[in-house]
Amino acid sequence: MDTEKKMEALVALAKRRGFVYPDSDIYGGFANAWDFGPYGIELKNNIRDAWWKRFVHGKDNIVGVETPIIQHPKIWEASGHLDSFNDPLVECKKCHKRFRADHLLEAKKTETGADLAKLADITCPACGGELAEEKQFNLMFQTSVGVTKDSASVAYLRPETAAGMFTTWKDVRDTTRQKVPFGIAQVGRAFRNEITPGNFIFRLREFEQMEIEYFVHPDQANEAFAMWLEEYKAWNSEVLRLDPSHVAYVEIGEGDRAFYSARSIDPEYQFPFGQKELGGLANRTDHDLSSHQKASGQDLRWHDQVSGERYLPYVIEPTWGLTRCVLAVLSEHFDMDEAPSGEGERESRTVLRFPPVLAPVKMAVLPLMKKGGLPEIAKDLVVELRKTGYLIEYDEGGSIGKRYRRQDEIGTPWCVTIDPETPKDQSVTVRHRDEMTQERIALADLPGWFTEQMKKTL
Ligand code: GAP
Repeated sequence: MDTEKKMEALVALAKRRGFVYPDSDIYGGFANAWDFGPYGIELKNNIRDAWWKRFVHGKDNIVGVETPIIQHPKIWEASGHLDSFNDPLVECKKCHKRFRADHLLEAKKTETGADLAKLADITCPACGGELAEEKQFNLMFQTSVGVTKDSASVAYLRPETAAGMFTTWKDVRDTTRQKVPFGIAQVGRAFRNEITPGNFIFRLREFEQMEIEYFVHPDQANEAFAMWLEEYKAWNSEVLRLDPSHVAYVEIGEGDRAFYSARSIDPEYQFPFGQKELGGLANRTDHDLSSHQKASGQDLRWHDQVSGERYLPYVIEPTWGLTRCVLAVLSEHFDMDEAPSGEGERESRTVLRFPPVLAPVKMAVLPLMKKGGLPEIAKDLVVELRKTGYLIEYDEGGSIGKRYRRQDEIGTPWCVTIDPETPKDQSVTVRHRDEMTQERIALADLPGWFTEQMKKTL
């Protein structure tokens, strides 16, 4: 399937099956905003939970925090975001549409092969009009806090969750038993006033990040950077199950790095619309701690009890776009093959081959008929299976073929059918999503069998 068609099919499936809907749909939609539907939110939560379990619960030296979206406005002054968190913007003099200057240059390069440094030869992609001078445009959303709207009340929606880890660093340092090197993790929303079209949920104004700020002795920063690169690769292949050939780890040149970074490597994924940034790994040096130390007047140094040394740690920051992980997982595991149609023929089927741990629904229980006591057996089984804590679906409506197709399209790894033999032999049929093979399992053994399957995938 060509990539444009794949993207169209993916967006259509996401809407049809309740993963992602256009936001404010009843008002004609809202640019760069999407709603997560019932299966989308499950998928997103499963990725988030797998991340938290792996990096916070799974490591001795990472702890979690949760900080507000609106924090003290001085933070953004100190961190440099007020001055430097900008995108280059150009406006068309004729139709007044706005574009990212760097995106226009990139598009021109793809089209002509010419590596242009300036916008001189580029006209408005919408109307062909002349483009005005490039301006720097700050991405932070401004709001005001309190009842009066004066300059003292200006506040900002955070553009990255990272700031919360720098401002809690002192409290975590002083109240936990962690010793450098250790990390602080947070998952939450971040906000950026993006002006360019977003490629479905790739670029949004509000999105979720999963970030770790890992505090190390400056001498160990390079080693920690290399360690986190390996962790990143393992996460992509072991949890998201992205084929390693679909991810490139790209060293970002000095001119293209974020203003706070001394070194950055971005994992870039082969999305259907091209190879694009999935996440990031940066060496933020002591940029943030030294800026906050200066602005707050607080001593933010680490005191090494053994050597007696006092120093500001460097920070290695692996960051994950949770919303982009959802898109990568949808895209990677989207597939089309053929399945029996029911009359001895074959029909095409769409299937999401999610790893079980990420699948929104883990198991569907389907009575073959609505009589003969089959729904009752199925419902009792659902009660048992739900004790595992995983999302289990019961579905008794429509032909079994249609019910399988629906579960394939939402990526359910196993379907269990309760058939007329079940009351007699106390067995059920388990159908495997990927191979479409079936096996007979004793009803009483099924919850244990399911738990074993889930353990194997964790
Ligand atoms: N704390 C570092 C930081 O925020 P970033 O590269 O600006 O670095 C990190 O953002 C990740 O957040 C990106 O790699 C991407 O996955 C995600 N992200 C950034 N802007 C986004 C947007 N507008 N929509 C969706 N995800 C976004």
